[in-house]
Amino acid sequence: MTSEQKRIDYRVTPGGVFSGRLRVAGDKSISHRSVMLGSLAEGVTHVTGLLEGEDVLCTLAAFRAMGVQAKGPERGKLTIQGVGLHGLRTPAQSLDMGNSGTAMRLMAGILAGQKFDSILIGDESLSKRPMKRVSEPLARMGASIDTSEGGRPPLRIKGGQKLRAIDYEMPVASAQVKSSLLLAGLYAEGVTVVTEPAPTRDHTERMLRGFGYEVETDGASVRLRGGGRLTACDIDVPADISSATFFLVGAAIAPGSELVLEHVGINPTRIGVINILKLMGADLRLENERDVGGEPVADLRVRGGSLKGVRIPEDQVPLAIDEFPALFIAAACAEGETVLTGAHELRVKESDRIAVMAEGLKRLGISVQETPDGIIIQGGQLRGGVVDSHGDHRIAMSFAVAALRAGGPITVRDCRNVATSFPDFPALAGAAGLKLDIIES
Ligand code: S3P
Repeated sequence: MTSEQKRIDYRVTPGGVFSGRLRVAGDKSISHRSVMLGSLAEGVTHVTGLLEGEDVLCTLAAFRAMGVQAKGPERGKLTIQGVGLHGLRTPAQSLDMGNSGTAMRLMAGILAGQKFDSILIGDESLSKRPMKRVSEPLARMGASIDTSEGGRPPLRIKGGQKLRAIDYEMPVASAQVKSSLLLAGLYAEGVTVVTEPAPTRDHTERMLRGFGYEVETDGASVRLRGGGRLTACDIDVPADISSATFFLVGAAIAPGSELVLEHVGINPTRIGVINILKLMGADLRLENERDVGGEPVADLRVRGGSLKGVRIPEDQVPLAIDEFPALFIAAACAEGETVLTGAHELRVKESDRIAVMAEGLKRLGISVQETPDGIIIQGGQLRGGVVDSHGDHRIAMSFAVAALRAGGPITVRDCRNVATSFPDFPALAGAAGLKLDIIES
């Protein structure tokens, strides 16, 4: 947040239900990738349903700074004149990735293969996040990337390096690392192989295929040969299941709710939240399942009811990695204990999501125990209070919907970054029944 920007807090009046039909913002992961691959393709790519959130706008601004011409976005429509894999130009300045770990890590892979030097910078939160997980394997491919102390941003990337393919076993289950290496692999000599310890979102693989690039998936390994080309195509971005989650949880915890979320992406590598909410006893149905440009979508119907605490299966963790702040609210409203393990990655997201959620839940009267890689939450009665999102968009939205079941008003501090992933959240949540006021100071 710059000094001239006002702080935004949410004040949410307790009670109410979620009802109606709505379509949440476009998928953030797919939107980033459509800008990246559209820019690197040959020909014109038309994107519809693009997320016009700040994170994606940072990615788009970076490609514009490297000479890519694009029209829009306007109401989710973006037309990109691709420059081809070797058509980017030297940017005049550092490329600012804002709050976005996805943008920085994936761009590192692309920029490692360029002829020119570049610098990737980010905001206060992004500047604290670990980048060695990409800089180290990229260096093994022959890239030259300097990080700041402790492997943090900025990343200084030297161009003109000859990249070689690697066969890499990822130590963490991270789609960002996998994607970064595959994107660098487009520029490398030979076949790049990336093996993941557990399945993570596969949007990069799917979209590369959509752009006509051969990508082979064999169990936990993905491989591609460098030196090919991307051919422009049209992309229809589904609604983001991660944004839909705030509505799924809000409706599930508020008896009397009935909500239909339209055109939501239900890629099997993203549906942990559906699986976990069903395990907790939520009344959640998938309707009208279909395929849109290589990504499965459905309308999600959810009804309010009672939930029960569960032990969250560890294999669901990477499939629901962004959904835990909201799932912790579901757990706080459930009967009994919810136990999460195997989720250390939550500590290195936009905030330390285990610590920040634990702090907020305690303030709202919920009994919580943090563990190094998870949390134990005792379901109870949420009371009103003031919680701090620590600038984390998903934490801000999670505590906002918690008010549906709280005993008093909830004030959520520092909600400006909701604009990174879901600028329409206050309006859509208000239309669905949340009594949310925005307070600027
Ligand atoms: C993303 C991957 C996930 C996720 C992030 C988006 C992506 O991160 O948390 O919000 O678009 O590839 P990791 O792959 O690092 O877990």
